[in-house]
Amino acid sequence: MQISVNATAASALLKTLANPNRPVRSYVTRNGRITAAQARALQQHWPRFGLEFLAAPLNLEQVFGRRAPCTLEIGFGNGEYLLERASVEPERDFLGIEVHRPGVGHLLLAAARLELANLRILCHDALEVLHWQIAAAALDEVLLLFPDPWPKKRHHKRRIVQPEFVALVADRLRPGGHFELATDWEPYAQEMVRLLGACARFDNCGDAAGFTAPPVRTATRFERRGMRLGHQVRNLRFRRVSGPRI
Ligand SMILES: C[S@@+](CC[C@H](N)C(=O)[O-])C[C@H]1O[C@@H](n2cnc3c(N)ncnc32)[C@H](O)[C@@H]1O
Repeated sequence: MQISVNATAASALLKTLANPNRPVRSYVTRNGRITAAQARALQQHWPRFGLEFLAAPLNLEQVFGRRAPCTLEIGFGNGEYLLERASVEPERDFLGIEVHRPGVGHLLLAAARLELANLRILCHDALEVLHWQIAAAALDEVLLLFPDPWPKKRHHKRRIVQPEFVALVADRLRPGGHFELATDWEPYAQEMVRLLGACARFDNCGDAAGFTAPPVRTATRFERRGMRLGHQVRNLRFRRVSGPRI
């Protein structure tokens, strides 16, 4: 299987990923409270739904036992949106990545209750998973909903949406596939429009300002929080264009 991104972005990314102790990550490891049920779910249901991190590409056909369009959600939080999608779209397969173990436990509990056959979970840094475990053009859809906005200027380097990340997502999407993003932090929304707009492999499906109408979806936990705070929610949709790789 081919693993590649465009040359400049690939070398920047390789340099970053080569350091396992790299200080700049898009998350902080929180020792959030894990409930007894979530801890039990991690023990009982991880073997069924969990995929370990390995520096080798996943064979999605083997993982799901079939060939079907695949959606990947990055930073699914407690997984409510992924769960909803996986249960109403049994014809698609879903991969979720999240580093926060209580959130993973929460999703495992619900996935086991619903006996979902089309969902798998990775508990690891999404950048590393995308780089090592997802083959080029393997995905049909990538979701990034309400990523941590890191509002302070000195923390902007922690934002997950950076040029190398954008190039990597473009590479892992098949031509015609979509990258959906949402945020309630206006400066981050503007930055997303700018950075994705600068990637020749993406077409913005939005209006003149670069945004789309709200898709039909149950609000996620962080979306509800943003709305409570009176923030405007921005939705973005980019289409991976076909044609020669750059
Ligand atoms: C602000 S929360 C949003 C959660 C959810 N998408 C929602 O809308 O409710 C961002 C989530 O992304 C996760 N996250 C951030 N960077 C990540 C990374 N590099 N790999 C995996 N998960 C990450 C965090 O642990 C956190 O749960």
